[in-house]
Amino acid sequence: MENRLKFDFNNMLSQYVGEEGFTPDDLVNLDTLAGKASKSVKESRGKGMMGWTELTSSNTSEIADIIVTANKIKNKFDAFVVLGIGGSALGPMALFQALCHLRHNELPATLRNNVPKFYVEDNVDPERMQSLLDILDLDKTVFNVITKSGSTSETMSQFLIINDILKAKYGSKAAEHMIATTDSKAGNLIKIAQDEGLKTFVIPAGVGGRFSVLSPVGLLPAAVLGIDIKAFLDGAKTMSTKCLLSDSIFNNPALASATLQYASMNRCKNISVMMPYADSLKLMADWYCQLWGESLGKATNNTGKTVNVGQTPVKALGVTDQHSQIQLYVEGPFDKVVTFIGVESYRATVTISGGYDKYPSVAFLSGHTLNELISAEMLATEYALTRNKRPNNKIVLSTVNANTIGQLIMFFMLETAYAGAMLDIDAFNQPGVEEGKNATYALLGRAGYEAKASEINAWPAKDPKYII
Ligand code: PA5
Repeated sequence: MENRLKFDFNNMLSQYVGEEGFTPDDLVNLDTLAGKASKSVKESRGKGMMGWTELTSSNTSEIADIIVTANKIKNKFDAFVVLGIGGSALGPMALFQALCHLRHNELPATLRNNVPKFYVEDNVDPERMQSLLDILDLDKTVFNVITKSGSTSETMSQFLIINDILKAKYGSKAAEHMIATTDSKAGNLIKIAQDEGLKTFVIPAGVGGRFSVLSPVGLLPAAVLGIDIKAFLDGAKTMSTKCLLSDSIFNNPALASATLQYASMNRCKNISVMMPYADSLKLMADWYCQLWGESLGKATNNTGKTVNVGQTPVKALGVTDQHSQIQLYVEGPFDKVVTFIGVESYRATVTISGGYDKYPSVAFLSGHTLNELISAEMLATEYALTRNKRPNNKIVLSTVNANTIGQLIMFFMLETAYAGAMLDIDAFNQPGVEEGKNATYALLGRAGYEAKASEINAWPAKDPKYII
């Protein structure tokens, strides 16, 4: 089957959703704006924090090292645990769910081709950490600590806990159970890794957390999981090439999507709902939410003007969330754009059984497949939204495989870059996240953060009257 991603934006047009949509004239005007954004993104490719556009080559010595390391891990360990948060966790999680068996960890080893079980510790809930420690067989476990900054409190806390346990148990051999993925200069993890002789992979300088899934952040876990990382990178390259060829929304799908979302934001559609109709893509929607929210939610634009822009990303899963959120989307405020992700060919076919012919309202299901049912439900939801004049668009993957997931990821990253250019903001920083990180350092007494600690302490005390 051809590996293909298609973007269908018919239901963003006025002929389908009336005045909530865009007319052909609107599209012509938007195409001019899009052309400018496209050119500015093209000029920035590979520069500054756009280093991720250049990560699609699969013939590098680093890719070879990742594959060799992954094979050694597969031969030696039964569990692979990522320690990381945000962009250092969501990419590996999304790839795992999309491209491995949906119940991978529950399969017997032989049925998962002896690929290790996979865990991502993307929180610092003590109960969660304890529960992980309760189930791991440390002799058969390797950890991959991932942090771009080399200093994030959550990740470094997880590392300190695990490294201490490993050292107590394995002494000088503890390093065999820990791999570091980090920046070559920033923070302290790189120094610790060098001091302790940890196998280390580098996150390139121009690649931020949420744009790092094509780097060793995503590639090492993926290779350990038996995912074809070359096909994944090839898919990313296919999409970036396709989007490079044209500065027009009529030929460049990531640009078209960015432009329509941007124009929708200008019409007070401040919510972007990402709704895959595939369990395998649920965490991909989570990954998208971080990418879109953290990149576009900004207080100031590139000239320092206060703009407070952004579009709130929301994850919904088809068909599950038809029974929880769709009522709101069909009849609530006109403040959303819904993006469906459909799959033409699922990797399994399940037929609905028969046997109740005397109950026609049950029997009509018999003989159909779940594949037909889920596809019909996506079309039905699309219809219900469109009929109620709710703009929506659709990304369709021919099937879910390493190549189409590479395409999808590059589609979203380029879409985000284009939208950032249209909003005239820095899509690659995250001052709001840094604010919280710095406050955490101050609250836990990190040296150098005394002024921030005083500022927090001077915050007006809470009025007990309002705590009831
Ligand atoms: O996208 C980002 O930059 C952030 O979400 C980071 O990924 C997150 O804060 C974790 O940072 P780090 O990888 O530096 O530990």
